[in-house]
Amino acid sequence: MAVNIKKIETQALKDIEAAKNSDVLESLRVKYLGRKSEINAYLKALKNLDPKERAQAGKEANEIKIKVKKAFDTKSKEIREREVSEKIIKDKIDITAPGEKVEEGSLHPITQALRDVRRIFSSMGFYVVEGPEIEEEFYNFDALNIPKEHPARDLMDTFWVKKEEGVEPKLLRTHTSPMQIRFMEKHNPPFRIVVPGRVFRHEATDATHEIQFYQVEGLMIDKNISLAHLKGILTHFLSEFFKKDVEIKFHQSYYPFVEPGIDVLMKLKGQWMEIAGAGMVHPNVFKAVKYNPPGPDEWQGFAFGIGIDRLLMIKHNIDDMRLLYGGDLRFLKQF
Ligand code: DAH
Repeated sequence: MAVNIKKIETQALKDIEAAKNSDVLESLRVKYLGRKSEINAYLKALKNLDPKERAQAGKEANEIKIKVKKAFDTKSKEIREREVSEKIIKDKIDITAPGEKVEEGSLHPITQALRDVRRIFSSMGFYVVEGPEIEEEFYNFDALNIPKEHPARDLMDTFWVKKEEGVEPKLLRTHTSPMQIRFMEKHNPPFRIVVPGRVFRHEATDATHEIQFYQVEGLMIDKNISLAHLKGILTHFLSEFFKKDVEIKFHQSYYPFVEPGIDVLMKLKGQWMEIAGAGMVHPNVFKAVKYNPPGPDEWQGFAFGIGIDRLLMIKHNIDDMRLLYGGDLRFLKQF
């Protein structure tokens, strides 16, 4: 037995010394110091020896166990220190390595157009205001001289919010015009405002129709305001927006909240295109906001509504409006 334990000691110390990493060392710990190790088996077998021999052999075996444990601890510390420093070197930031490219985003073309609208109209002294997208029936229709059963409502089918007893019905606004009423209720003329914003229609979508799109409403009220002023203002706006001289003309048209009503056509690349509705504010609209007590000195003014998507499509030769709302990066990255 004495020979045996000595041999185990020699082998254990040799193996531990040769261990290259913590995994190898751990398996040696199990092998030589674990519960089922040869040294433990040896110690257990001692009970079969006679007392004198047992004391001697037990002492020897325990000393060997302590020695192997010490060798293990020393090696373990050595390996741990080496492995930690190797990891630090491996993880160290290499300041000479080429950087990782961060993808840069860009503003959506509609956002860019809305910013242009705000900037250009502000430069002409227009005040920029916004209105609610969920609008009351009264503001979207009635106050704009579009009573129930008026055929103009058919052209503006939209999404209604579930009706509640005794509360003004709400809908997703079909145009930015209701903000004309909201503004006039709270402000007295003279003023000039624009209202950029999103509007909604219950439509089957195709290349030129979407259930949502953007408009900018305009309203200018003063004494002696005429369509000639509107022509000057829109010509300037469009020339700035398209960054080239733009020619416009008015066609007679019909909108319930203006009288006379007109459509605005713009000439670009030799072609006339309809880009806005407009007109002189209808007396019934003034009545709805309690302007103009009868007298010689009346307020008057014009209103207009421009389709922003339309302008964008013309500006960038976009042939399908749905691209503006699809979120496809291949499209968006071009702006
Ligand atoms: N609100 C109209 C529409 O969405 C556009 C419009 C026409 C606005 C004439 C106006 C206007 O302010 O005077 O179809």
